[in-house]
Amino acid sequence: MRILVTGGAGFLGSHLIDRLMTAGHEVICLDNFYTGNKRNILQWLDNTNFELIRHDITEPIRLEVDQIYHLACPASPVHYQYNPVKTVKTNVMGTLNMLGLAKRVKARFFLASTSEVYGDPDVHPQSEEYRGNVNPIGLRACYDEGKRIAETLAFDYYRQNKVDIRVVRIFNTYGPRMLENDGRVVSNFIVQALQGKPLTVYGDGSQTRSFCYASDLIEGFIRLMNSDYVGPVNIGNPGEYTILQLAEAVRDMINPNAEIIHEPLPSDDPRRRRPDITKAKTLLDWEPTVPLAEGLKLTVEDFRKRMGDATI
Ligand SMILES: NC(=O)c1ccc[n+]([C@@H]2O[C@H](COP(=O)([O-])OP(=O)(O)OC[C@H]3O[C@@H](n4cnc5c(N)ncnc54)[C@H](O)[C@@H]3O)[C@@H](O)[C@H]2O)c1
Repeated sequence: MRILVTGGAGFLGSHLIDRLMTAGHEVICLDNFYTGNKRNILQWLDNTNFELIRHDITEPIRLEVDQIYHLACPASPVHYQYNPVKTVKTNVMGTLNMLGLAKRVKARFFLASTSEVYGDPDVHPQSEEYRGNVNPIGLRACYDEGKRIAETLAFDYYRQNKVDIRVVRIFNTYGPRMLENDGRVVSNFIVQALQGKPLTVYGDGSQTRSFCYASDLIEGFIRLMNSDYVGPVNIGNPGEYTILQLAEAVRDMINPNAEIIHEPLPSDDPRRRRPDITKAKTLLDWEPTVPLAEGLKLTVEDFRKRMGDATI
């Protein structure tokens, strides 16, 4: 098949491209390189099945493809809050453009949505039926509400124009190729520990997150895309860890002498988030397989290579 991956030079997009190229598909990677990097797709640049297009999805584009994986959107607060209006445009105009393309060429359309559509949830764990608790005017709204309207658009194109959609709600994912400066908790801790700095925990560290390893997530993407189920489907790891536990795991792996310090919680930081993956299990026969300790080890190795072994 010929498959378009928007945001293909980013963290998750590039792992997806690795899977699709290895399976023998023709892949078009479309990216504006805002948070993506050519380094992530370097190994495919000379492959005749691979094409790279520098393009901003807020502008329309015409391509002939069978499937579209729509991932283009900065995912970490540092990057999506840098230009919140642009984040909204990417989610609204960008998703409209990609759905328009899917409609025109009758391609199957896959939306990478997020657990952020649940906001600061008052239901645990979150199932797909939960409608969320999002602050529409907060600092995270450009992303949370952006993804909510992206889902709305996908479902309206499905109902109104019969576009064949799949919607995944991604929970915290980590792995090799995460950006060093993206401010996400896993990369923050690894970078701080590798630099011999204290690990910064916001609040008392009792807030919890779930952490899914990238290869597990991509397996879920492929299964959903090739199933008959439209979604939305939660894909994430239900293993719940406190931020303090994560800090300790990273510290023990890299530098057991590193200090853990506490700073005030940013506003709108969700207290708890954990996926209910019953749907993924029953409909896609999917569940995560990589334990946190193993995934962290692989991620730390990748950061070490990229950063040089500065301190340890
Ligand atoms: N990583 C996670 O834990 C996570 C969690 C939930 C949802 N997601 C979603 O998965 C997708 C990929 O996330 P990621 O972690 O790989 O982030 P990322 O920032 O590494 O990748 C996003 C990619 O999209 C590109 N991009 C951004 N705006 C664009 C635009 N206007 N036009 C063209 N390209 C553009 C960036 O350059 C980058 O390559 C995003 O849609 C994100 O919302 C990720």
